[in-house]
Amino acid sequence: MKVGIVQTNPEFGQVTQNIEKAVTGISQHEADLWVLPELFNTGYQFKSKEETAALAEEIPGGPTTQRLIEFAKEKKTAIVAGLAERAGDKVYNASILVNRTGEVFVYRKIHLFYEEKLYFTPGDLPFSVHSVEYRASNNQVLKAKIGMMICFDWIFPESARSLALLGADIICHPANLVLPHCPDAMPVRCLENRVFAITANRIGSETRTKETLRFIGKSQIVDPRGKILFRASDTQEAVQVLKVNPKEARDKQLNPYNPLLDDRRESFYLGLPSV
Ligand code: ACM
Repeated sequence: MKVGIVQTNPEFGQVTQNIEKAVTGISQHEADLWVLPELFNTGYQFKSKEETAALAEEIPGGPTTQRLIEFAKEKKTAIVAGLAERAGDKVYNASILVNRTGEVFVYRKIHLFYEEKLYFTPGDLPFSVHSVEYRASNNQVLKAKIGMMICFDWIFPESARSLALLGADIICHPANLVLPHCPDAMPVRCLENRVFAITANRIGSETRTKETLRFIGKSQIVDPRGKILFRASDTQEAVQVLKVNPKEARDKQLNPYNPLLDDRRESFYLGLPSV
């Protein structure tokens, strides 16, 4: 399966320009699945609830989702991308998975970071996984299970674990990272769950308030053994396609004695609902 990652530098509020730049970047390559950053169409540093609501879009009716549907159908690919979602009087920091037939699945960021708490409603949908088709080298049509989480969700191991328990082969992880730790943490998330992870981050900075936010780049693709297959720079935009085998994520047997997920001892863990 060919998976593609895009590292962008969006200009705040320039939605059409940001979308077209990202779409043009990936048009020159072929992949079965693309992952774009969090809030890739708007930029990150909102200043008010009104501004956030004005830049948020309905899913799937809004122009960003419609443009990605058009692209996915035309190129017969799947795309994951982050955007602000307006749903009634609420605004979510969301991501969408658009598959090659134009079907759309939504994830709403569960763990909001820092001032996102002022402008977004915390996600209210459970983690979920969805099938994405790809062609094997013998032209056979196969399916990979795709799960989504957004940026700061990484610091809660429960996010990746939930997706692994749901059967995700690949965690698609749109991000706008400002803390330095995530690129080093994601290989551990992959190792402890035996999944692939594609973290698509942005570069550049925004100073729309008294504070400057610098985004750390280092978008990366990590395999189920925790190996970093690709890592982008911290300053340059990037597009990279790699071939991965989703089936590698389905072998959870560490050795003859340790099936990774079945070996969990839930009754000894804190913070889980009692069964
Ligand atoms: C983040 O969650 N955007 C840091």
